[in-house]
Parts: sequence; structure tokens; C-alpha cells
Amino acid sequence: MKLTDEEKAILDGRDGEPARFFLDMLVTLGRVYDAPYLIPVRSAHVSGLSVRTLGEAGIRWAEDMAAAGARVRVPTTMNVIGIDRAHDLGLPPDWVARQKRVMAAYEKMGCYVTSSCVPYYQGFLPRFGEHTAWGESSAVVFLNSVIGARNNREGGPSTLASAVTGRTPCYGMHLDENRRGGLVCQVTAELGDMSDFGALGAFAAAHAGQGIPVFEGVKAPQLENLVALCASLASWGGIAMFHMTGVTPEAPSTEAALRGGDCERIVFGSRELAEQKEKMSSGVERRVDLVALGCPHCSLNQLAEIARRLEGRHVADGVTLWVQSNVSVRALAAQMGYVDAIEKAGGLVTQDLCVVLSRPEDLGFTSLATNSAKMCFYAPGSNGIPVWYGDLEHCIRAAVTGAW
Ligand code: F3S
Repeated sequence: MKLTDEEKAILDGRDGEPARFFLDMLVTLGRVYDAPYLIPVRSAHVSGLSVRTLGEAGIRWAEDMAAAGARVRVPTTMNVIGIDRAHDLGLPPDWVARQKRVMAAYEKMGCYVTSSCVPYYQGFLPRFGEHTAWGESSAVVFLNSVIGARNNREGGPSTLASAVTGRTPCYGMHLDENRRGGLVCQVTAELGDMSDFGALGAFAAAHAGQGIPVFEGVKAPQLENLVALCASLASWGGIAMFHMTGVTPEAPSTEAALRGGDCERIVFGSRELAEQKEKMSSGVERRVDLVALGCPHCSLNQLAEIARRLEGRHVADGVTLWVQSNVSVRALAAQMGYVDAIEKAGGLVTQDLCVVLSRPEDLGFTSLATNSAKMCFYAPGSNGIPVWYGDLEHCIRAAVTGAW
């Protein structure tokens, strides 16, 4: 791999051991993927920050790095965590304390403690064509597809390595030739809310493998629905990017997205939509004790809609309604009165929490309802909780009746 004089100096220890260690990690990664050189990144988003994924060894490693002087050199945000920083949810105190140690270590390294899977709703917005090193699989798809930035599917250590060195190996999604569509999915179904977009993502992921799907026929989708599609493609498949003809910046036409190539074509009609949604639920008993919305974290518009739908209704006894968002959006929603409206109805607008990365199973929940395809994918395996999947109104009905 060709390295600049600056990079050679860092590898010789000029900027200290943490910078040397992280640059060496990226060079090794680059060699594995045949990257010819490293490229500068404009921002990073570190992931893998939950105690569930880090464990005690991972926490100590982060603390050691911070103590040894590791400091980020590009604007760096932090992904969601397994606790709510504004409320006591009754999670094990040891778990909460360990999660706080993780945040303190990364904050010491200079990260912004944003704790969200949607940092772009908090004002961290890369530009078209920019190279970035973000973790959080749904955000990666968002950057590549909706914005047209360039970002590989990264893991926690590599995002921190890029944050500290300001570089990433040039391979994969950083290269034009790897951004070509590989499957056309013609959407003839009428898509409603985010759960329909989540179903579309799961359907396409099953056909696309690691390739890049090109969606045709989706008209003027809301931003939040594109975010849901990103999260679904990333979780139900290992997908880093999609094109949407006439919507995403690298797909003014299907031909442009395919770059003159040809590929398999599939159709997503109303029958496929209904079948896919049916398949995604793993719920067994109709009784529901947890309804979780905001995966990915809610936007202001989504919080407004949830508040409106809860007007004149109340969450049933024995049911918990968590509406996930981050500190920035939640503060604005509080100012608008949406938080109050949701909480008067018996829900809780959580701050920074990811249910899947937390320990809802320790709180005794046994049956979950959500409108998130990503939560639907992970909660049964990660938390051992079966999930009912449906649109927002269906989830709100489950919250106020206690049944799906
Ligand atoms: Fe975000 Fe956690 Fe969902 S990371 S997308 S809230 S599973």
C-alpha cells in the first residue's frame, strides 16, 4: 500500500502510540481488501458502544485508549447505547454504570456524545461525494444512498481508528465502480408508512445478496420512510447502498444506476407486500407488553405524528410504550409539546436508548410490537422477545389495548 510521508511518520510514532496503533490497523485492513492507499475522511460515527456488544474487555480497551491519549481528529459522533440517559428504566445498576464508563471514555477521546443512530437528524450531515467512516449499518446505507457520500460498512474499532487518524482505506463503496446497481426491484405496491418500506427492504435484501438494489416506481418518499428502508436493507441483508430511480442522487434513471449493465428484475406488488409483512412477525401470543417505536430514532415529524395519534387515548395497564429518540430531537419535541402529549398518554419518549442494545428481557417483557423492520429482525435473537410487526396505527392500538 502506498503511504504518504505524513502516514509514515505516524506509523513511526510521531503522534504517539494510539495514533500509530490505529493507523497500523487501517493499513492492515486496507491490505486485506487490496486498497491501494488511504484516503482522508471528513467525519466519523463510532459504533459498537453498547455494553452488550463491548463487554468488560471492550470497556477497558476504550478506557486504556483514552488514558493513553487517543484523540479524534475529525468530527466524530457516537452511536446509540443500551441505556436512557434521561430516565431510570429500572435496568440493572451495574449495566448502567458500565454503559456510562463507555461514554466517558469516548467523550475523553473527543467524540460528541450524540448517542443516536440518526446523527443526520442532529445536524451531522455529510455532503455528496464526501468520504466518511461511519459505523451503524442503517446510517451507512443512508449516507451512500440518500446523500451520495462514500462509506463502507464499518465496525466499531475501524470507525474509531478512522476518527483518530482521519483516514480510511480506499476500497469498496469509496470507489465508483462498486456503486453500480445489481438488481432492479420494480415497486408496484402502494407504500404507506415506514413498516411498508421496511418490508420492501427485507424483500429486496432476500434477493439482492450483497449487491445494490435499484428501486423503480417509488414516488416522492418521505425522508423517514427512506431511513426505514435503509435500516431494513442493512439488517435483513448485508447491504451498504441502494438506488431509487428519480429519488437518490446517483440514480437520475435506472440506466444511470446500472451504469449501462444489465441484471435480474423482480416485482414488489401488493401481494408481495402483504406476504412479506406477515412473514416478518414472530409473535406468538396476541398479548403485548412492550411497544417500541423509533428504530431508527424518531424524527421530529414522527414524534408529532405519534403525539397526534395518542390524543384522547391511553396506554393500557401492564403495557409499556417506549418512543425512542435522541437528545437533540427530544429537546425540540419537548419544546413543541409532543413529549408531554405522548407521556400524558402513558408513553415515554426515551433519550439515546436502543431497546435491542439494552436489556428489555431483564425487565420481564415477553411480547413486543413495533413498526421497525430492524427491531423486528434483531429483537427475537438478541433479546429473546418475539415481535409483532405492523404500521404505526396498529402499534398504537396494541399499546392502548394490550393486544395485537
Ligand atoms: Fe437504531 Fe437500535 Fe434501531 S441502533 S436503528 S434504535 S436497533
